[in-house]
Amino acid sequence: MRIDTRMGTSAALQGRLSGRTAIITGGANGMGLAAVRQFAEAGARVAILDIAGEAGRAAAAEQQVLGREVMFVETDATSSTAVRAALAEVNAAWGPVDTLFSHAGTIIVKPLHESTDEDYDRLMAINVRSAFIVCREVVAQMRQNGGGSVVITSSIGGEKGFALESLYCMTKGAVLQLARSIAVEYRDENIRANAVCPGFVKTAHGLREIDELDGQGQNWNEADLHGVQGRLCEPEEVAAAALWLASDEASFVNGTALYVDNGWYAKG
Ligand SMILES: NC(=O)c1ccc[n+]([C@@H]2O[C@H](COP(=O)([O-])OP(=O)(O)OC[C@H]3O[C@@H](n4cnc5c(N)ncnc54)[C@H](O)[C@@H]3O)[C@@H](O)[C@H]2O)c1
Repeated sequence: MRIDTRMGTSAALQGRLSGRTAIITGGANGMGLAAVRQFAEAGARVAILDIAGEAGRAAAAEQQVLGREVMFVETDATSSTAVRAALAEVNAAWGPVDTLFSHAGTIIVKPLHESTDEDYDRLMAINVRSAFIVCREVVAQMRQNGGGSVVITSSIGGEKGFALESLYCMTKGAVLQLARSIAVEYRDENIRANAVCPGFVKTAHGLREIDELDGQGQNWNEADLHGVQGRLCEPEEVAAAALWLASDEASFVNGTALYVDNGWYAKG
């Protein structure tokens, strides 16, 4: 079967986010970058907030030459000061933000009994504190401007448990609950919040994760991957799910965990 992962170039994207102003944290690489491309092609103005300066500038430039409104603001999403400054820059250029994809994150693969306080602080900061800060700042702005849509990247590990990933799963469960709670707290202010929960995705993060699990004895070969999710997921396939959740097509979808895992979660 041929897998069509060209969603970023599909005519079907056009207009689906027109008039929107979006922030994508972690948009310089991987799934975040795929989302930048798709959101911009769908008509949104997109601000990439990422610590990866070179990749972020390249991503914005690539879209600008296509005539799309994409800016890059080098931002450490774990810092309130940095996020507020970035948001002020976006507001000055484009006005209020109505669409947020909180995607920045990373992984530590380690047995729980070897994980240090520093590991905990680092992963909680990058995966949880960043989502807390960016959601808090952007939701405050959405409330003042008639509402909006938030999508947060959790993981299949947000609800399933995985050996060597206790810390990681804990952080992904936390952001899944953040999405659900925003949905409940702000529904009557026209703000929706949902989570995408991918399985293994072909990005630097996903490939390193598989390597490190292998290095610690789990041996994720192709047959294992096939057993759980059929094949590796392409970053564009997660971006397409995030775009749908962000768009008005998902107008009654609020507080949901959308698994992008080819049946892995359902299989148990
Ligand atoms: N790849 C997978 O298999 C997989 C599966 C499930 C969930 N996820 C989630 O996806 C996200 C990782 O995305 P990816 O797979 O596209 O990986 P990636 O490593 O390609 O991209 C992650 C991006 O986040 C940015 N980032 C990291 N720390 C940041 C910070 N403090 N401030 C701003 N930006 C920061 C990085 O610079 C990078 O551009 C994480 O939230 C992860 O939990 C990944």
